Amino acid sequence: MAQRSKWGTNLGFLLAAIGSAVGLGNIWRFPYVAYENGGGAFLIPYFVALFTAGIPILMLEFALGHHREASAPMAFRHIDPKWEWLGWWAVTFVMFGISLYYIVIVGWCANYMLFSLKLSWGDDPNAFFFDQFLAASDVDGVWRLGGIRWPIAAAVAIIWFINWLITYGGVQKGIERAVKVMMPMLLVITASIIIWALFLPGAAKGVKHYVTPDLAKITDLRVWIAAYGQIFFSLSLGFGIMIAYSSYLSRDANIFRNSLIVGFSNSCYEVCAGFGVFSILGYMATRQNQEIQDVVSSGIGLAFVAYPKAISLLPHGHLFGFLFFLLLIIAGISSTISIIEAFTSAVLDKFAVPRKAVITVMCIVGFCGSLLFTTHAGILWLDIVDHFLNQYGLITVGIVEALVVGWLYRTDKLKAHIVSNLGLSGARHKVFDYVVLQLWMYCIRFITPVALGIAIIHSLIQEFAEPYAGYPISGVIILGVGWLLVTHVFAFGLSGLPWRGAPVE
Ligand code: TRP
Repeated sequence: MAQRSKWGTNLGFLLAAIGSAVGLGNIWRFPYVAYENGGGAFLIPYFVALFTAGIPILMLEFALGHHREASAPMAFRHIDPKWEWLGWWAVTFVMFGISLYYIVIVGWCANYMLFSLKLSWGDDPNAFFFDQFLAASDVDGVWRLGGIRWPIAAAVAIIWFINWLITYGGVQKGIERAVKVMMPMLLVITASIIIWALFLPGAAKGVKHYVTPDLAKITDLRVWIAAYGQIFFSLSLGFGIMIAYSSYLSRDANIFRNSLIVGFSNSCYEVCAGFGVFSILGYMATRQNQEIQDVVSSGIGLAFVAYPKAISLLPHGHLFGFLFFLLLIIAGISSTISIIEAFTSAVLDKFAVPRKAVITVMCIVGFCGSLLFTTHAGILWLDIVDHFLNQYGLITVGIVEALVVGWLYRTDKLKAHIVSNLGLSGARHKVFDYVVLQLWMYCIRFITPVALGIAIIHSLIQEFAEPYAGYPISGVIILGVGWLLVTHVFAFGLSGLPWRGAPVE
């Protein structure tokens, strides 16, 4: 059997894992979610979620992949062949679901990067984005596709091509080399944008809105659910990615330290990004004599409507816009390469086929899949599929993962693995073993499944109360529920095929 790929250094692994975690979710999802859920007060549930689910599950995924040097399906097969499907399902719906539309958003960013140079959106960025650029159908037009939008499709082709170029080179010569260039760039651009933003007139007003705690929100269950959801998506948990990435680490790697570094870097990045985003909103509100709540818009609107408005107002706005969209593109690509690797690694473990062929086929299939989201109904499809895969797909994988590892595999096996590489001895070893890792085990066994369980039940109740976001019920069922079911069946199919790669048992 071919030798398993390896990272050249632990730093290479850290950059790749942070690259996967830091993505579109950090730059424009987090600030908005934080703002909507109590501003500064949101940080309390957010950090509770980070410590009770984020870092524990991250450590679990790292330990699982590293312990047996296995991708997600193989790692779960080691626990019990019955659970192999879970690994397949995670990598399948992320690769052939989330990344398909995620790359389309990166494609929009590529278009907007160029639009920034000429401020092409004019005086009405909202009409420009929805009517001209996307030419989007109304909410009830889910089935009126109306053909592909070629400027978007062209950008999507380029982004898939870059993904292919990077992953084709392999773990060390492709991904590690790329993140060693991309991550420092990401850091420099982010720092420049944040500093630039903080010194704009009115920035303080925006920042004040961002950090002022609305303590009443803390008692609202939805705020807690939003916090766990954000942590999960942002840290790429339940994607099967962190399992694959850690399987390429050297045998003596320190899993505990690596999980803390990745977990904190990701959160630190998003909390800081929030300062940049809100400074800009403060500037915009001041220039237009408006209140912050009038200039904030949710999710997609924030980057493609509110930001272009701000870019038009800013001195040297073209440069600012160019850098901002470039930042989103880099952050996006360092995330999508990670799922291509996770899926490939699963296929190689099981079928022992040539790596390069797998990567090429997947990028071509992925590109074709992305085209589905480039039609006039693209944004509607994106919204529905995203809602279902995030709220149900990721959360289900998280719950089952925590239960299977916590109760079936007995976390002590992974615990022993984590401790063995820490190089501690005597009393420190005991304290670590009995206190820190004991707490970890409680989080995995109890807190994570309960917290995620509440989140999923809450979402289900809302689903039955009314169809998601007012879309026609056929759209919600076929696209949302359908996507979950089809990827599930596909995953079961893959897990039923005979193993040709490394023997497991
Ligand atoms: N964690 C990323 C974010 O915050 C999301 C992400 C990671 C992702 N890997 C991915 C999305 C692969 C799609 C495909 O944005």
